Amino acid sequence: MKKKIKNNVYWVGITDWDLRSFHGNDYSTHSGSSYNSYLIQEEKTVLIDTVWAPFADQFVENLEEEVGLKNIDFIVMNHGEVDHSGALVKLMEKIPDTPIYCTANAIKSLTGQYHKDWNFNIVKTGDRLDIGNGKELIFVQMSMLHWPDSMATYLTGDNILFSNDAFGQHYATELMFNDLVDECVLYKEAKKYYANIINPFNPLLIKKLDEIVSLKLPIDIIATSHGVIWRDNPMQIVEKYYEWANNYQENQITIIYDTMWDGTKALAENISKGIQLADPDVNVKIFNVSKTDENDLVTEVFQSKSIIVGSPTVNNTILSSVAGFIQLIKRLKFKDKKAASFGCYGWSGECTKILNELLSDAGFSLIDDEGFKVMWNPDEEKKNEAIEFGKKIAKA
Ligand code: FEO
Repeated sequence: MKKKIKNNVYWVGITDWDLRSFHGNDYSTHSGSSYNSYLIQEEKTVLIDTVWAPFADQFVENLEEEVGLKNIDFIVMNHGEVDHSGALVKLMEKIPDTPIYCTANAIKSLTGQYHKDWNFNIVKTGDRLDIGNGKELIFVQMSMLHWPDSMATYLTGDNILFSNDAFGQHYATELMFNDLVDECVLYKEAKKYYANIINPFNPLLIKKLDEIVSLKLPIDIIATSHGVIWRDNPMQIVEKYYEWANNYQENQITIIYDTMWDGTKALAENISKGIQLADPDVNVKIFNVSKTDENDLVTEVFQSKSIIVGSPTVNNTILSSVAGFIQLIKRLKFKDKKAASFGCYGWSGECTKILNELLSDAGFSLIDDEGFKVMWNPDEEKKNEAIEFGKKIAKA
């Protein structure tokens, strides 16, 4: 359903209340999501982005009914990923000659996915498109935020930045705007989105934010491609991105482990005790990686200054749940975070050595070169040693 954003600018996207995993099963979406497509109706009618392919029929039908497909003069594709371009195929079947404005890299991604020879028009940062009534679109390339083809589009007069993925959240709501929704949920989802999607590109992001700010364009609204639109103090999310991009951490230490017969679990609990005894102000959290949503756990790592990772030794290596999670956080390129390892073993005892190698490889600096390992299950003496290990972690 078409919803007014400001003056002649409308939301024409899809709210996906049912979505519980995104990017295949790579990102959990407990709060659903939305695919925000926008329509500008000035002398020219412009569609900005489309929606995910499963909603293509509904999207095109809505546009036909509420706008009239033949009335669309231009399409702007800020990004070629399928959640924004999926309905383009269905749409272009109806209006095949409509000019599509996008980056050169978006032509590669769109033709690579859909193999169509559409009426592409390449734009780059600073290019302008007159849409009548004194208004223009100004394009800003957002390369690698988070794809090479990413772009933002600014609408003069109404001062709206259509930012695509940047500043988004996977958050389904009919309330649409940041001043109307629950702020805690909004920031929880925005932070999870940043930690899981944007974090690897921090150095590029800081440069790009500087570039956008230096353009001195007044921004009244940031209209993202997922979740709510920032209209109440929209620059708050830009400021938050600066904070998050600067190797963000809180006073948190996160213990992440898996266990076979609860020996490694007992170590986790006693290491936690030691940390709390040495530093009562630090926020210690413990998670069994097999029982925790991995994207939520990524967010915990994002806001931690240190992570303490445990696995028992099994067949000369570690549990795949722990190895897989370290692989995931390696890809997210966290910086300036410390790590340590622990685990129980019965005979060969490679767990801490392997964990240390993996954690170093993932970019964490080791607090302790050996780690803390215990043969069989910890007795009272070993539990006390785990407490002492925790104290050492807290002081590191
Ligand atoms: Fe929301 Fe990169 O797509």
